[in-house]
Amino acid sequence: MSDNVFNKIAAMMTEIQSYTIDNAEQLEAFRIQYLGSKNAIKPIFGEIRNVPNEQKKDFGQKVNELKQAAEGRFNTIQTLLKKQSQSEAAADIDLSAPAYSGFGGARHPIATTMGKIIDIFERIGFVVAEEREIEDDWHNFTAMNTPEDHPARDMQDTFYLKDSVTRLLRTHTSSVQSRMMTANKPPIRIIAPGRVYRNETISARSHCQFHQVEGLYIDEKVSFADMKQTLLYFTREMYGADKEIRLRPSYFPFTEPSAEMDVYWGLESETDYKITKGTGYLEILGCGMVDPNVLSNCGIDPDKYSGFAFGMGIERQAMLLYNIGDIRLLFENDIRFLKQFQSVI
Ligand code: DAH
Repeated sequence: MSDNVFNKIAAMMTEIQSYTIDNAEQLEAFRIQYLGSKNAIKPIFGEIRNVPNEQKKDFGQKVNELKQAAEGRFNTIQTLLKKQSQSEAAADIDLSAPAYSGFGGARHPIATTMGKIIDIFERIGFVVAEEREIEDDWHNFTAMNTPEDHPARDMQDTFYLKDSVTRLLRTHTSSVQSRMMTANKPPIRIIAPGRVYRNETISARSHCQFHQVEGLYIDEKVSFADMKQTLLYFTREMYGADKEIRLRPSYFPFTEPSAEMDVYWGLESETDYKITKGTGYLEILGCGMVDPNVLSNCGIDPDKYSGFAFGMGIERQAMLLYNIGDIRLLFENDIRFLKQFQSVI
């Protein structure tokens, strides 16, 4: 009888040692079989009463060995399987894949729009001129045929510097015209991109800061036809050959005659509606023949030279190009807004 029990133990030891455990499911089955609450070793313990006294010690040892063998196999194989699944996970990583580089930044839509405009004019010989944002009254207004009592000064609500009546934040890039004309001799052919400031209430359509690109061409015998052709070239390049444009007579103190140019944009989206004030036309620039007074204010002989100038707003063009419905988005630098321009070059 006791031989029988010892044989049982030996058979179970073989079973434990040869049990096939190749995966987690088999390991779990093994655990339930030999280490679980109703495991197969337990009933063997109960057989102790059939073992003669002198063999009881030996029996106890042998049964314990069974338990230890089961625990040992379980722990070893559990560790092995863990290692295996880790290295499998590692093998899934594609080491040749490009590293995630995070948000590398994006060009701001204002910069992109300005860049496009600059490119177009550089192709026909215009040179970029950058100038100061803090200007004096003379270059911003007086030289531009807008003396102190001129009503046109009210058109542009000015930020003056604290304690100064002559120093101001430029209200338009036209101040670069007087800077260029006083410092250079014709021919002059420049474009001046930059930021301008006006004391206006901030809303979806207007802001107290915005950007313009100014253009100025002075030489002998420059005509209104040259201006029209230059601006036509610009709109064709910027908006495509089939965009409808129109010149409307207008008034600016520094040009005579003066005009404004509109591009037909369409009236499909809400943004189109808001920005074109429901007309479908987008006014993109003011322009005209440089007033002879401006030429002589800046030391250029108006009998010998003539020229044209224009000044265009950037925000509105950017808003329509990228379907941005609110000008304030352009100045808030919200990362969620900026991220959308990652693919724009
Ligand atoms: N400076 C004008 C403005 O800010 C725009 C402008 C109109 C510029 C006519 C010019 C021009 O150079 O000739 O509204």
